[in-house]
Amino acid sequence: MSDDERLPPRPAWRTDFPVERAEAQHVNRREFAKYLVLVSGGFAAGSGMIAIKDDLVAQPELPEGGARLCGIDELPVGASLPFVVPGTNVPAFVVRLDEATYRAYETKCTHLSCAVFYAPESGRIECPCHNGAFDARSGAVLQGPPPRGLRRFAVEVRGGDLVLTGEERS
Ligand code: FES
Repeated sequence: MSDDERLPPRPAWRTDFPVERAEAQHVNRREFAKYLVLVSGGFAAGSGMIAIKDDLVAQPELPEGGARLCGIDELPVGASLPFVVPGTNVPAFVVRLDEATYRAYETKCTHLSCAVFYAPESGRIECPCHNGAFDARSGAVLQGPPPRGLRRFAVEVRGGDLVLTGEERS
């Protein structure tokens, strides 16, 4: 009795679809190169779109002389106050770092847009999503994956008020 006679009969589908699993999963060099080109192209297009979007961010529309955010007595040292940048739907916050130092930043993390917050105990602005952190005085990246610092707005004290006067460019 030969080996073929001892084996169970071959199912009919194997005759109709004679492709073996190893062959079906084999990726040749040409297919792999095509895949690489597609993925690289996707990354390049995504990066380009992000760069364009960054140039098209909504700009504040402030009244002549700026927009009042709050009275300075409403913002004790170490506290922060959220606001929406006038003329946009951009969420932001202002923080009082010491008696005379105020900073205002967009709330959106520059990594994947999670909401950042001021952590008075560490003196940093932190992002809970991927452990990103920013310098509260400059908005610069201190740790984590964010690729650049926070968008920063200019504020000044006038009389007893804190006034938003525009955007600061770095
Ligand atoms: S979204 Fe902020 S660190 Fe990733």
